[in-house]
Amino acid sequence: MDKPYRVTPDIEVLPAHFPVPGAGFLAVNAFVIRAKEPVLVDTGMGLDSEAFMEALASVIDPRELKWVWLTHDDADHTGNLRKVLEAAPNARLAAFSLAVLRMSTAWPMPMDRVHWLNPGDSIDAGDRRLTAVRPPLYDNPTTIGVYDDKSEAFFSADCFGAIIQSPVQSADAVAEGDLAQGMAGWASLDNPWVHMVKPEEFGQALARIRQMAPKMILSAHLPPAEGKTGALLDVLATVPPAAPAVAPNQAALEQILAQARGDS
Ligand SMILES: [Fe+2]
Ligand SMILES: [Fe+2]
Repeated sequence: MDKPYRVTPDIEVLPAHFPVPGAGFLAVNAFVIRAKEPVLVDTGMGLDSEAFMEALASVIDPRELKWVWLTHDDADHTGNLRKVLEAAPNARLAAFSLAVLRMSTAWPMPMDRVHWLNPGDSIDAGDRRLTAVRPPLYDNPTTIGVYDDKSEAFFSADCFGAIIQSPVQSADAVAEGDLAQGMAGWASLDNPWVHMVKPEEFGQALARIRQMAPKMILSAHLPPAEGKTGALLDVLATVPPAAPAVAPNQAALEQILAQARGDS
């Protein structure tokens, strides 16, 4: 876990970063929206459990949380969900139905605290509407991002993620070329289906986000990106026709292990 920081007067980042051997780092962000009804977006990695709960408590008393919004049920987003729901007895869990049902196979979900959302549905957080928006790229069928109509931020789940060379607090701190390369690589690796999609049809999904025009992209896997939505969408538009990313194989793993051992 890294130290929490504020991106807008009412949004805090609970940041972590995960080393991707041989490639760099992937940010793993959760967020607190200081709405009238405060919201936690995602719950980090189980690996960080204690540090995550400490980071959360340093930003807000979990008992004040009224909502936990789960963008999808992948482990890097659900890592501390059970602990959070215990520490936040006044919070309801906003999630896609299938995410809740799938998680029910691992532990008993408090169904009376669950609020099911489909893309297009919204919740009233007192001083803002939070709307479920399916991002153009997703690696899990339960994905619902969040558009916050007060901050005009889009919490985009895994979409817009990038493998970068060092953890930073703003996408502006990453050189433009590195950001584009890191984003295109992640987009291809995490969403191999994108290469089966016609670029013009994918373009329609991108156009919906362009129309929504969020001022800030808050991805789980990218440093906060303010005023860059158009440029980031332009990068995603290059992905469908590009050559698919190739994941590291056993030879690469052996090289990584040898390097870690200090073999010459
Ligand atoms: Fe995911
Ligand atoms: Fe993720």
